[in-house]
Amino acid sequence: MFLKNIYLSYFRNYIQEEVNFHSNKIIILGNNAQGKSNLLEAIELLSTLKSHRTSREQDFVYKDRVYGQIKANISRNFADYDLGIMLPFKGRRELTLNYEKLSRNLDFLGIVNTVLFSSLDIDLVRGSPEYRRNWVDNLLVQLEPIYSYIIKQYLQVLKQRNALLKSFKTRGIMTFSSLSKSEELELQLWDDKLVETGCRVMRRRGRVLSKIEPLAKLWHNQISNKTEKLQIIYLPNVEYKENEIEDIQNRIREEINHKRNAEISSGNTLVGPHRDDIDFMINQATAKNYGSQGQQRTLVLSLKLGELQLIEQVVGETPLLLLDDVMAELDLKRQQQLLDSLGNRFQTFITTTHLNYFDNKLLQQAQIIEVEKGKVII
Ligand SMILES: Nc1ncnc2c1ncn2[C@@H]1O[C@H](COP(=O)(O)OP(=O)(O)O)[C@@H](O)[C@H]1O
Ligand SMILES: [Mg+2]
Repeated sequence: MFLKNIYLSYFRNYIQEEVNFHSNKIIILGNNAQGKSNLLEAIELLSTLKSHRTSREQDFVYKDRVYGQIKANISRNFADYDLGIMLPFKGRRELTLNYEKLSRNLDFLGIVNTVLFSSLDIDLVRGSPEYRRNWVDNLLVQLEPIYSYIIKQYLQVLKQRNALLKSFKTRGIMTFSSLSKSEELELQLWDDKLVETGCRVMRRRGRVLSKIEPLAKLWHNQISNKTEKLQIIYLPNVEYKENEIEDIQNRIREEINHKRNAEISSGNTLVGPHRDDIDFMINQATAKNYGSQGQQRTLVLSLKLGELQLIEQVVGETPLLLLDDVMAELDLKRQQQLLDSLGNRFQTFITTTHLNYFDNKLLQQAQIIEVEKGKVII
């Protein structure tokens, strides 16, 4: 796929800008705090309807304005699409596809596929399990947009079940056996929903990790000159043998029964995929604890290259690659390796403060866009 054009209006520090893209390599050049990442963020929103930098809707809107807007035109193998997102300071977004209003996010997701690689991604390895869960969830949304509903449903069930458990706690109930019959039935209703929706999430996470592992493994092996072996191990909160509905559901239910009293006395749901993690291992040691900085960076790079490949395989089109400030993070060898492995197949947007990272060949091919104070100056 190829992003032909983007238009920003009162989005972040952009007042009104339109950019036409005509190359497969786009370098976005500018000093710090000029709007380079904001531009990539707009592309990220077109793709996932989310930003990795904020979940506060107001952040997107130019100061003192009531709404911001992103419009774009993207070319895919069989058709071109006009996309629009209206981002109000307060209230619901409005999404349009080919100038028609959409009532469901689902119809917007999956039109623009992206892989974003930013300097924050090192948190995938070093950060808390939440980063890894978000990573796998975002990947799933790109591969099967319906997953956005599946995860949302699960989180809603979780919220309501937690509220019920908290209400028991505030009434001084500390054990399962002190619940009245009707309270017990109500809890069981939420148990059933947790089992059903939680199983859907776990199955998909397990499946996608087993698909990406061989791809990322190969990249990691290559980048490390065959000295390192990467493994991606899903650590579901509840262990199970087969990635099958019945097996997973039974195991979640068993665990719930096992933790009844603990859940009631803590007023929290202790079982389910909101407590999943992923172990990235290099040569059989957890990269988070034992990996060197270089190994951790190679790992993130391999994951991103794996993502690109997996999306391409499943979707049948090359996703856009967004590289936010990563050139400065990677040493020369890894930079070259990254650019070489990409070839010219993926439309790639690279932000940078300097051009001296790039070789002449790339600079000749690339479209260079310079950004200053929210304005595109060339
Ligand atoms: N909602 C907003 N309204 C106006 N300016 C904003 C808004 N959000 C961010 N900015 C400005 O955008 C700039 C940061 O842009 P960013 O794209 O992150 O910079 P960089 O070029 O370093 O990647 C800062 O100057 C910040 O004040
Ligand atoms: Mg930036």
